[in-house]
Parts: sequence; C-alpha cells; structure tokens
Amino acid sequence: MHSVTPQSLTLGPTQTTVPALGIGTWAWGDSLYWGYGKDYDADTLRAAFRAAVQAGVPFFDTAEVYGLGESERLLGQFMKEQEGAIAIATKYFPLPWRFGKSAVSDALTASLKRLQVPSVALYQVHSPFDFFMGQDTLMEALADEVKQGRIQTVGVSNYSAEQMLRAHELLAKRGVPLAVNQVQYSLLERKIEQNGVLQTAQNLGVTILAYSPLAQGLLTGKYTPDDYQKPQGARQLNPRFSKDGLTKLMPQVQLLTDVGHAHSKTPAQVALNWLIAQGNVIPIPGAKSSSQAEQNAGALGWSLTEDEVTRISQAFAG
Ligand SMILES: NC(=O)c1ccc[n+]([C@@H]2O[C@H](COP(=O)([O-])OP(=O)(O)OC[C@H]3O[C@@H](n4cnc5c(N)ncnc54)[C@H](OP(=O)(O)O)[C@@H]3O)[C@@H](O)[C@H]2O)c1
Repeated sequence: MHSVTPQSLTLGPTQTTVPALGIGTWAWGDSLYWGYGKDYDADTLRAAFRAAVQAGVPFFDTAEVYGLGESERLLGQFMKEQEGAIAIATKYFPLPWRFGKSAVSDALTASLKRLQVPSVALYQVHSPFDFFMGQDTLMEALADEVKQGRIQTVGVSNYSAEQMLRAHELLAKRGVPLAVNQVQYSLLERKIEQNGVLQTAQNLGVTILAYSPLAQGLLTGKYTPDDYQKPQGARQLNPRFSKDGLTKLMPQVQLLTDVGHAHSKTPAQVALNWLIAQGNVIPIPGAKSSSQAEQNAGALGWSLTEDEVTRISQAFAG
C-alpha cells in the first residue's frame, strides 16, 4: 500500500497551510517572455484562476516583477470576483537602489495594493543578490512585516544551501522561521538534489516551492518532434525545444505517458506527482488556460507507487 499525496502542506515550520500544489502566474500579464495578449488574455486567465479554485488549488505564486505588476493586478481583480479564501505567495525583488528597510515595506505596500488584500500568505525574496541592502537588514525588515501581520510567512528564492542557512539564522534571531526556498526543480532540472539545497531544506524543515516544474511545458507531452510546434515566446531559444532536443526527450516523455496510463493521468500530472513524492515539495506549475489549471490540479488526490517513483527518477537521472 502506498499513501496518497497530501492535499495540503504547512509552509515550513509555520502555522500557514496551503494546497500541496500552487499555480504559477509569471505568464499572467507578461508579453515579453510568454506572449501575453497574443494567444491568451485577461479573460482566458480569469477562467484559469476560477478553474484552479474550483479544482481545489486556491494558491497562486506571483511576483512584483511579473508583467511589471500586471500579474498581481490581475490576481487582485480575480480575487475580488471570487468567494472563499485564496492564498497568495508574492515576491520582493532586491533591486540595486533598494537599500534601507523602508524599501521592503514600500514594495510590500505596492504589492498589497495591486493585489487588493491586507496581507499575503508568503512573501519571498526573489533572488539572493542583495547589492547594498545586506541580508541582515533584509531579514530584519521581513521579520518586522511578519510581526505587523502583513505577511504570514517569509521565504527566499534561488538561494544556495549556505544562503538559506544564513537567512534561517537571521530570521531565527527574531523568532521567525524561514518557511520556503523557491527554486527550479523538475525531472529535467535536478541540481538541488546535488548541491545541498534539498538536503538543507529537509534538515531545516523548509518547504521547497518547485518552479518550472513542467520544464516550461517539455514534460507535458505537448511538444513532440513529429508534430513539431514551436513554443510561444522566448522558449524558442532553448535548444531543448528544438526538433533535435525534443527527439532526445521522447523516450522519457513516453515513460511518463505509460506510467500515467496505469493511473488515468497525463504526463504533466505524473511529473508533478513525482515532485510531491519527494516530500515537503510544492510544485507551482504555470497555467495559461482553464484546462491547464484543471489538469495541473489533477496532480493531487492520487499517488505514484514507490516503484514508479524510482523508475522515473532513474530514467531522468544524469
Ligand atoms: N522564483 C523564480 O525565480 C521563478 C522563475 C521561474 C518561474 N517561477 C514561478 O514558477 C511558475 C512556474 O514556472 P514556469 O511558468 O517557468 O514553468 P512551468 O510551470 O514548468 O511551465 C508552464 C508552461 O507550460 C505549459 N503548460 C502548463 N501546464 C500545462 C499542461 N497541463 N499541459 C500542457 N502545457 C502546459 C504552459 O505554456 P504553453 O501552453 O505555452 O506551452 C505554461 O505556461 C511561474 O509561473 C512562476 O510563478 C519562479
């Protein structure tokens, strides 16, 4: 017997519980990388938002920089139209000219205004490059915001194991736990298993928010060399999306398809369930439509067997 993946998880050693899968919203309002406004628009995204809530994943990851604030703005509008609790994770970007504690509170004020909410479940530092601010000032400012109740929990993103330990230590001085490290993690991007990030997070009880968990669409089975379809936007520059790249990937995608058949699940749902099976990992797949949101939410409520997890791990190793 194997256990079914959890429907919800607490963010690190905190009291804040969120669905065990979130919806990424980088593409929401972003025309530069993802092509917002061409194939999909605000109405398509409203439908994606509603589908995610309906499917039991009212948890969205955004950032002040996504679409230069448009992602937060869209989420703010959609939340106003929706009943029920929604958990939001957003991010502070450490820009070079931000160096005092007030820069953090000003950025958060602007995010909350765009989101039209008094507080968020999770506030993450988008990148470890802190320029003139220094991690001690930054963590002080974040701890202040927890005490004031404008953020429930603190996270970091793209931090190494060492940087995560330091953030954890600085926050602990203020009695605030480090809840999350948001990093790139998918079957095709497994660096965190080797560089100490996953192990350190597990030791500290810090939750990993796995970004680009579908390798930006490669693991969905939608892109194949036979029926060659160029991806939207900047992904065209990624050699993995070329005809050759896709040809190499096909045996692995076929395994996800085969394993999925046994559970009546899609390759994307298998790839996301594999991440959840690693323990204390929350994938945040992007969704640009209601069908993608619904499908990605379907990664919850069932489990791969231990043998399937091992087989998939091995097939994607190296
Ligand atoms: N902290 C950071 O530095 C950082 C960096 C990157 C991302 N993130 C976060 O992580 C989230 C997810 O990462 P990501 O958007 O880079 O990559 P991803 O989740 O791996 O891939 C998302 C893309 O895959 C396609 N897709 C998604 N679900 C699908 C499905 N069920 N079937 C077929 N295609 C599907 C969609 O694009 P198409 O339909 O166009 O193929 C979608 O835009 C972001 O939205 C953002 O919130 C954070």
